[in-house]
Amino acid sequence: MNVVIAGGHGRIALRLSRLLAARGDTVLGVIRDPAHAGDVRAAGAGPVVCDLESAVAGAVADVVTGADAVVFAAGAGPGSGTARKDTVDRAASVLLADAAERAGVRGFVQISAMGAGAPPAPGRDEVWAAYIRAKGEAEDDLRSRDALDWLILRPGRLTDDPGTGLVALAGPPLGRGAVTRDDVAATVVALLDAPAVRHRTLDLLNGDTPIRDAVARLGQGGSGGSGADQVS
Ligand SMILES: NC(=O)c1ccc[n+]([C@@H]2O[C@H](COP(=O)([O-])OP(=O)(O)OC[C@H]3O[C@@H](n4cnc5c(N)ncnc54)[C@H](OP(=O)(O)O)[C@@H]3O)[C@@H](O)[C@H]2O)c1
Repeated sequence: MNVVIAGGHGRIALRLSRLLAARGDTVLGVIRDPAHAGDVRAAGAGPVVCDLESAVAGAVADVVTGADAVVFAAGAGPGSGTARKDTVDRAASVLLADAAERAGVRGFVQISAMGAGAPPAPGRDEVWAAYIRAKGEAEDDLRSRDALDWLILRPGRLTDDPGTGLVALAGPPLGRGAVTRDDVAATVVALLDAPAVRHRTLDLLNGDTPIRDAVARLGQGGSGGSGADQVS
């Protein structure tokens, strides 16, 4: 498989690169800082410097040409303000989707976030509201695209604890909780291997179902459902 990861130096992206490269897949990691190239190479991916807040779709299309799937794993990050929630979490995803369409790449896995598009809970600050709005708008953009076999994965709170291999994976709402970045990356690998599971929005937490079983059960439910079937 040939996979391009946007935000290739991110913590999920590096884990995903290692997993894919270890089994012989070809991975490109799109980064904006050339100083990150060594880490991306060490994870087994090929670094491509391309700032997704300033690139044009044609240039990104050149990067993704020939890929079987792209994974949007970029994010403005916790230290960023409202403006970059829009330019990264929304607009860079839209740009990657435009580029994938231009290049004829059908597979698109979006790392979104639980609660994307929902009204922010009382007491959350404006940066959180901008983040959850940007993620929701990026999701809506994907859902409008017939040319992409999109899949939206909404992890709960991310941790750097060691992976467990055990998840809860289902259409929202799944509840609240955490999931390790290791397990998010492993779930993305299993979803890339399950082309029947597309056009779905899925919440992801740590749970008690082996990742491959959780994904296989979704595949048995078909690709066009509401995502209401819970596997935990
Ligand atoms: N934190 C949570 O609890 C949580 C929960 C659910 C979902 N998520 C989402 O999960 C996704 C991945 O999370 P993570 O922890 O792996 O993220 P991360 O470690 O913060 O990585 C995000 C990556 O995006 C890159 N990036 C930012 N702007 C870019 C640009 N203009 N062009 C190219 N790359 C750019 C960053 O590069 P730089 O280092 O150069 O900035 C960074 O490497 C994010 O979308 C995040 O919002 C997070």
